[in-house]
Amino acid sequence: MMLHVPQVLTPAQVDTMLTRLADADWVDGRATVGAQGAQVKKNRQLPEDGAAARELGEMVLAALNAHPLFFAAALPAKIVPPLFNRYSGGEHYGMHVDGSVRKLAGSHAMLRTDVSCTLFLTDADSYDGGELVVADAYGTHEVKLAAGDMILYPSTSLHQVLPVTRGERICSFFWVQSMVRDDSRRAMLFDLDRNIVALREKLGDSEEVVGLTGHYHNLLRQWADV
Ligand code: NI
Repeated sequence: MMLHVPQVLTPAQVDTMLTRLADADWVDGRATVGAQGAQVKKNRQLPEDGAAARELGEMVLAALNAHPLFFAAALPAKIVPPLFNRYSGGEHYGMHVDGSVRKLAGSHAMLRTDVSCTLFLTDADSYDGGELVVADAYGTHEVKLAAGDMILYPSTSLHQVLPVTRGERICSFFWVQSMVRDDSRRAMLFDLDRNIVALREKLGDSEEVVGLTGHYHNLLRQWADV
């Protein structure tokens, strides 16, 4: 399931991040990929364990915590500390698949990547190119969002970032280990959750809405690994 999550960050939060990022030291983006990714990746990133990535990553995590749509779609068990990248002057990231398991920086803990997230920080009109292209069973999807908006997609997807030919594309990106590793189950739970929320708005906590809410949690209990 691909999902556009609007307004994860406010315009003020985006400005704060871009100001901090303008002063940060950036490194070659190949620092965080395996052999296949390194051959096709040409961009820059904040060092994973640097102060800027940690500080801004905390801001992203706090914003996600306050976002019920993200929680309902990703059903996060663990989230990799968010990373930051930038592309300009033709930089790009060719077709690749994200590694299935990541070691968390500064620890021995591992995380399975179920859901990939890209949070856009520069506005779509301020640069040319830089579309995130995700290939799935239904074809390819090109994504380029407003600053503060996020796309979430299954980490099993092949994807690429097209060359940025004008301006600069700055994003935060990270992976989620979901309580529900299977994408189709996660999509069904999300669908059920959204319908329950809409019904509750229409009907209040009627007996049926409470019953369906119970059904949602019983399914999640069956499928969740925490
Ligand atoms: Ni990727």
